[in-house]
Amino acid sequence: MTVFKQRVFSGVQPSGNLTLGNYLGAIKNWVGLQDTYETIFCVVDLHAITTWQDPDILRNATREVAAGMIASGVDPKKSIIFNQSQVSAHAELAWIFNCVARMGWLNRMTQFKEKAGKNRERASVGLYVYPDLMAADILAYQATHVPVGADQKQHLELTRDIAQKFNSDYKVDFFPEVEPLIFGEATRVMSLRDGNAKMSKSDPSENSRINLTDDRDLIAKKIRKARTDSEPLPATMDDLDGRAEAKNLINIFAALSDRKAGEVCAEYEGKGFADFKRDLADLSVEVLGPITEEMSRLMSEKTYLDDILRDGVHKADELSQPILRQIHDIVGFLRP
Ligand code: TRP
Repeated sequence: MTVFKQRVFSGVQPSGNLTLGNYLGAIKNWVGLQDTYETIFCVVDLHAITTWQDPDILRNATREVAAGMIASGVDPKKSIIFNQSQVSAHAELAWIFNCVARMGWLNRMTQFKEKAGKNRERASVGLYVYPDLMAADILAYQATHVPVGADQKQHLELTRDIAQKFNSDYKVDFFPEVEPLIFGEATRVMSLRDGNAKMSKSDPSENSRINLTDDRDLIAKKIRKARTDSEPLPATMDDLDGRAEAKNLINIFAALSDRKAGEVCAEYEGKGFADFKRDLADLSVEVLGPITEEMSRLMSEKTYLDDILRDGVHKADELSQPILRQIHDIVGFLRP
C-alpha cells in the first residue's frame, strides 16, 4: 500500500458574491486545518464558466474569493492559494478523467439535474463533466482529505469512483482514497427569506443572503429583516420542527459563536424573535465586521493579492507537474 501525504484540497467558485453560507459552510472550517494538514485552497474559475460569466465580473469575483479566504484567516504562508485556470494540471487531468468516468455515473449526478433544470439540451457540456474536473482538482495533488458540505458529497463519491477505476484499469495504486471532512453540526446556511432554500449567491432577493462585501449596517439590517414566525423560542431544537426559518437563525447564531445549536436554543427559551434577532445582529456584526473590512482593504491592494495568487500558482505547479508526468507514463503518453 502506498502511503500518501495528508493533504487537504478544497475550492470555491468565483461566481457571484461570497456569502455567509460560503464562510460558515466552508472557509471558516478551513482555517483550523492549516496546522494539521498541508492545505491547498483554490478559486475554481474553470468551474465557474460552466455557466455564463461576464469576463470583468469573473476577474473581480476571483480576486474577491481570494480576498475573502485570506480575510477569514486562510494564511498564504501556511496554505497554497491560487486560481484554478492558471495551473494546467487541472484541465489536463480532467480530460483524462473524462475518459475514465462513465456516462452512467454522470447521469446520476443530482447537481447537474438541478442546475440544468428542464433545459438539459441547452446546458453546457462543461456543466455535465463538472464532477470530472472536480476529481482532477483533488487528485492532481493526490489529496487525501476534502472538506465539503453535504451538497458536494455525491461529487466526492464520484471522485473516489474515478480514482478506483483508474487504479484498477491501469493496475496501479496511484490515487488515494479521498476522505470527506465533515464538520461538527453541519452548517448549511439557508436563505433569510425561506428557511427551506439554501442561501445562494444567485437568489434574486438581496435580503435572502449576507454577502461578505456587506458593511456592518447592512448586515444588521438584513438580520433584523430576516423572516421568522411569531411563536416564542422553545427549549430544544427538536421542538422547532416545521419552523425552518427559526432553525436557520439559531444555526447561524451557533456557528458564529462556536456553540451548539441546542445550547443557544435553550438560552432563549420563551423569548420572542425580536430579542433573539437583536442579539444575532450584534453577534453577526462583531464576527463578520472585521472580515468584511479586511476583505475590502485587500480588494484595494490588487498587486498584493495578485502576488499571493501568482505565488500559489507556482507552488501548485510544483506539486502537480511531477504527479501529472507520472500519470502520463501510466496512461502511455509518449514523452519525447
Ligand atoms: N464544486 C464545489 C462547490 O461548488 C467547488 C469545488 C470545485 C471543490 N473543485 C473542488 C470543492 C474540489 C472541493 C474540492 O462547492
